[in-house]
Amino acid sequence: MTQTTVLTGITTTGTPHLGNYVGAIRPAIAASHDRNVRPFYFLADYHALIKCQDPERVRQSTLEIAATWLALGLDIRNAVFYRQSDVPEITELAWMLSCATAKGLMNRAHAYKAAVQANEDSGEQDPDKGVTMGLFNYPILMAADILLFNAHRVPVGKDQVQHIEMARDIGGRFNHIYGEHFVIPEAEVSEEAAILCGLDGRKMSKSYDNTIPLFVPEKQLRKLVMKIKTNSLEPGQPKDPDSCTLYSIYKAFATKEEVAAVRRRYEEGIGWGEMKQFLFEYLNNHLMAARERYEALLEAPEKIEEALQEGAQRAREYSVPFMQKIRASVGIRSLAR
Ligand code: TRP
Repeated sequence: MTQTTVLTGITTTGTPHLGNYVGAIRPAIAASHDRNVRPFYFLADYHALIKCQDPERVRQSTLEIAATWLALGLDIRNAVFYRQSDVPEITELAWMLSCATAKGLMNRAHAYKAAVQANEDSGEQDPDKGVTMGLFNYPILMAADILLFNAHRVPVGKDQVQHIEMARDIGGRFNHIYGEHFVIPEAEVSEEAAILCGLDGRKMSKSYDNTIPLFVPEKQLRKLVMKIKTNSLEPGQPKDPDSCTLYSIYKAFATKEEVAAVRRRYEEGIGWGEMKQFLFEYLNNHLMAARERYEALLEAPEKIEEALQEGAQRAREYSVPFMQKIRASVGIRSLAR
């Protein structure tokens, strides 16, 4: 059986929220149980340094993200689950790739262009003000993450598609110069994924500060659900589920039958207070068991570390010999005969 290699990275700067769960974590964990795929999932801690220079936050986020994935039942016998910084071949490859990448290609990266645009808009003289080389080179590090493991498919959000295109360009360029070493990866964007709404009705996202963290304690979960914005319709008045944040969140978790039943309650004019209580209880029941495992893992970080070290070892069984080949291909090899 030839397995498809699926690879994705999670930047370690925040605490996983319901939107991350529905959009990325849940499908990735489901895929980890599929023996037709070989997933590589990693904590992108070097990427975290691009946007976060708070060491404690990077460490805490790494811990929370790893605990989240493990608590949710990631199958680490199939999936290779590791921390980017434990696989030094990634940064080594990033250098080699950067020597085969046109600067002009990086000038076109959205993240860099947005930073330059923000400087221009604010009347700043230096267009590169506040732009680090880490930000500028970010797509090359990401290409190294992907190409090192010869990933076929890369599940990402829409905002990352350009980076996969760049990884394809960069890999193709390297192959052209040094021989066919790299698989050219495909981006995999899930359409239904990105639409979980946050507290204020906009897309749930850390940058809008409207998230519901996945494993907040029960009391806080209740408080947050009660804060979700609704309109001023009274109990008894029919309501539109399709423009409702409560409904959009419920729909991401419930079965088709459950969703159909709730739609009828909207037509009948369910009150917002009742619907919020109902959504809270539903989410709480759904998340309770995993939340307990999560809390237990946070109390035993050495178990998390052990799982990550095991993952790094498996990743390196692949990356060490592969990198040796890459090194040789560019002319860096032993002089002895
Ligand atoms: N940059 C990605 C993000 O912000 C995370 C990431 C880093 C990644 N390396 C990757 C995703 C490699 C896919 C493949 O979401």
